[in-house]
Amino acid sequence: MKHLLKMLDLSTEEITEILDLADQLKYELKHGIPHPHLKGKTLGMIFQKASTRTRVSFETGMYQLGGYPLFLSSNDLQIGRGEPVQDTARVLSRYLSGIMIRTFEQKEVEDLAEYGSIPIINGLTDFCHPCQVLADLMTIREFKGKLEGLKMCFIGDGNNMANSLIVGCLKMGMAVSVACPDDYQPPKEILDFAAGYDCFELTNSPEQAAKDADVLITDVWASMGQEGEAEKRRKAFAGYQINDGLMSVAKADAMVLHCLPAHREEEITEKVFEAHAKEIFEEAENRLHAQKAVMVKLMA
Ligand code: CP
Ligand code: NVA
Repeated sequence: MKHLLKMLDLSTEEITEILDLADQLKYELKHGIPHPHLKGKTLGMIFQKASTRTRVSFETGMYQLGGYPLFLSSNDLQIGRGEPVQDTARVLSRYLSGIMIRTFEQKEVEDLAEYGSIPIINGLTDFCHPCQVLADLMTIREFKGKLEGLKMCFIGDGNNMANSLIVGCLKMGMAVSVACPDDYQPPKEILDFAAGYDCFELTNSPEQAAKDADVLITDVWASMGQEGEAEKRRKAFAGYQINDGLMSVAKADAMVLHCLPAHREEEITEKVFEAHAKEIFEEAENRLHAQKAVMVKLMA
């Protein structure tokens, strides 16, 4: 494993190794056991979109590992004025030990990896959000004790979260059921991958998708960059909400996850959100541990 660009690139074994290491690093942090695996290393963090969790968890995580994080806003980098990513990659590779990037196009992340010579970590693109899904898998395993054989249901937009969840959960032996409006299905690349699995289902019925689910997950109706479509999307996604009605068709002990930020009373009701706050905020915490594991795997 040289980079973390998308879940499609990871094997089941690699995902398991990251989750195991993340559990260990979480234990060490909670018990005050130092783990300076990245002493003397530097991580550049390029952000072309807003972030609370990704920025703070990578920055803190790098510090806890003994390394040094650099926050690089695209507003301040020459990349924001049009310097090609190919050149940025070759320059930054001479200063840094690794790069985390959050941007729009997946191609930009893939180009950084191709032209640079250091590990690249995808901190979210329009196509996928692998760091989040590693934290989600870690959280499911923590609460349920296993992944294999569980059913994950995703409700809402066939977006970056849906894409990474479909791939990550299927690779870990879970059944996956996705409910989205017909015009907002995941892209062909993801559906082609999922077509290889009998335990994958795509429907426009949230009730059908949620039936007997062990884990229900949703995400915002309008992602970063889609603010102009918010009104149109509010109409298209009406009904694609995790609420008490939907919870009643899932397993009685079903857990609920949300990558955050959440829009209460849109994709999830306040009531369900607060009833499952324990899982949702553990999930947010696990970003830290999962990403530290990724950085150690790639950069130590
Ligand atoms: N879930 C997530 O990636 O959060 P941020 O946008 O705050 O980083
Ligand atoms: N789908 C959301 C996820 C935010 C973490 C977005 O891209 O804005």
